[in-house]
Amino acid sequence: MKIALITGASSGLGAQFAREIDRTMPGIQEIWLIARRTERLETLAEELQKSCRILSVDLSTDEGITCIQQELERKKPNIRICANCAGYGKVGSVADISYAHNTGMVQLNCVALTAVTKLVLPYLQKGSLLIQIASSAAFLPQPQFAVYAASKSYVLSFSRALREELHGTGIRVTAVCPGPVKTEFFDIAEEGKNIIWYKQLIMADCENVVHQALTDGRKGKAVSVYGVWMKAFYLLTKLVPQQMILSVTRLLNRDHS
Ligand SMILES: NC(=O)c1ccc[n+]([C@@H]2O[C@H](COP(=O)([O-])OP(=O)(O)OC[C@H]3O[C@@H](n4cnc5c(N)ncnc54)[C@H](OP(=O)(O)O)[C@@H]3O)[C@@H](O)[C@H]2O)c1
Repeated sequence: MKIALITGASSGLGAQFAREIDRTMPGIQEIWLIARRTERLETLAEELQKSCRILSVDLSTDEGITCIQQELERKKPNIRICANCAGYGKVGSVADISYAHNTGMVQLNCVALTAVTKLVLPYLQKGSLLIQIASSAAFLPQPQFAVYAASKSYVLSFSRALREELHGTGIRVTAVCPGPVKTEFFDIAEEGKNIIWYKQLIMADCENVVHQALTDGRKGKAVSVYGVWMKAFYLLTKLVPQQMILSVTRLLNRDHS
């Protein structure tokens, strides 16, 4: 059975990956939709043409990861595409953000992503695509988003190294590094507060980011960055000393609370 496995499929980027794979990848026979909100997954499954398998699990728990492991062992699928999209962020200082969220971001964005990656590896074959959702926050440290940015640096570094380890196997690994995208992400990250002006200015559509990610993934690119602003930012973080960028960011953020 040729499948696509998507974590974080109940909304945002994950749901959009499911829609685009459903529409554009005729070889995929089943889509595995993974997240906590069962109803959302069921509604999405009804919308899609392909058959779907719904796994309502909390990936930040051992039980959630074990459930995925057991389902993989039972079905032994041929995973043509795995998109690791589950993740969240909280804006604020490390001191202000709760202990649960400071560690919860690492648990979901890093530990769960690593666990799912390790579990799917035996089921990937030549031509399979592993999409790892990092963020442009991975490019440099971000005060007031410190743990989230660090967790996404982990995803980027991990995915690039894994890509090298898999060199010659025909398995492609692409780290996707979007800037701000219109999803429910900011409802959770900002908890109803205003999104800072420059993030609003460059906010991308989910459809475009996912389309670019799949296009870049198929081309075997190591990193997918959508949009001219984010490409420029990526370049900037490679050329300009980090402390200089951090000082400018401090000025841009000074009136935002
Ligand atoms: N939107 C942006 O601006 C942006 C920019 C760069 C990177 N990203 C990254 O893109 C990825 C997708 O985010 P999004 O923008 O699509 O936000 P979103 O709409 O909030 O989607 C997050 C997804 O993660 C799932 N999830 C959260 N906690 C989970 C848990 N404990 N177990 C299982 N699933 C869980 C959510 O489903 P349930 O709540 O149903 O579990 C949801 O499906 C994240 O990794 C995020 O860090 C987003």
